Amino acid sequence: MSNQTVFSGIQPTGELHLGNYFGAVANWVRIQESGCYQAIYCVVDLHAMTMPYNPNELRKNTQQMFIDLLAAGLDPDKSIVFVQSMVPEHTELAWILGCVCAYGDLTRQTQFKDKSEQLEGKQDAFISAGLFTYPVLQAADILLYRAGWVPVGKDQEQHLELSRDIARRFNGQFGEYFPEPAVLSTETPKLLSLADPLKKMSKSLGPKHYIGLFEEEKSVRAKVRSAVTDTGEAGTEIGPGALNLLGLLRACGKADTAQAFEREYANGARRYAPLKEAVADALVELTGAMRQRREGIAGDRERVHKLMQEGAEKARAIARATMKEVRRLAGLPKHQE
Ligand code: TYM
Repeated sequence: MSNQTVFSGIQPTGELHLGNYFGAVANWVRIQESGCYQAIYCVVDLHAMTMPYNPNELRKNTQQMFIDLLAAGLDPDKSIVFVQSMVPEHTELAWILGCVCAYGDLTRQTQFKDKSEQLEGKQDAFISAGLFTYPVLQAADILLYRAGWVPVGKDQEQHLELSRDIARRFNGQFGEYFPEPAVLSTETPKLLSLADPLKKMSKSLGPKHYIGLFEEEKSVRAKVRSAVTDTGEAGTEIGPGALNLLGLLRACGKADTAQAFEREYANGARRYAPLKEAVADALVELTGAMRQRREGIAGDRERVHKLMQEGAEKARAIARATMKEVRRLAGLPKHQE
């Protein structure tokens, strides 16, 4: 049963963009619609506390991300959708797993190195222990539901490898209990920045590098128009920027159009304006539909609040059962609920 459980999470650090949509969330919706899995999706607000943040903004962004996920197609009748901090078992399990996670493994995590370097350059640099132990909490998220599958983008693969190591060490020490979770990736496991196609699309690079899933037509068109296509590569190779645009077209369900461009480019043509226009049209269609859905959902705050409570209750029922067993295996006393 547990290998049919899917778990994934997203940080509420602002709006959904095409990178996390096509790299992960679109897959979450497909998995949900396949009806073959118990799908559990989480807004990981505790993870967002590992970088400097403002409490009021975190609360607002967490609710906004919950709404955005519903607009993107998650259906609380088919998947469990909830907010991490509303299920306190996540932090309890994280402590226990921290005691079976090797310190050396955490020092090798590239996300910690990248983010701490980013902070070091700032005034009043403060690098928290939470940023260092971030992947342990991520392992706890997944293992709490004994999930076998984790749909994420490429940048999360190292964290998943660590989650598997942690599961293995727990099982070796206390008895076989957790499945080792595997990555489920999409055709676009790494969508690149439009302005710098040598980097992954992310909000932290700045607005010209990403397109929001709910972005207005005018700015979508402007960003696609100014997207970098060639980055000066020699010979007949298509540049990473143009390949990225072709990937976007395919991700939007326009594989035939993408193939037609690819045939042209294989014959030596390098006209990128029509490709950009096709990409912009596809994205305007997508973002327009998303905006409309979001308006409908955001208009009923009471329902959103109720769905957040219900999602947390459903997740907690599973989390409690896991923790009961984990406490027993790990040598802790029985716990009154
Ligand atoms: P986060 O919030 O950075 O990103 C959410 C998901 O989007 C994917 N993603 C991308 N995929 C392709 N191209 C891109 N440019 C791109 N940008 C983002 C990410 O790979 C991710 O799947 N640590 C996680 C959140 C997390 C989690 C978990 C994930 C916490 N606990 C348990 C899975 C399971 C993170 O920061 O994702």
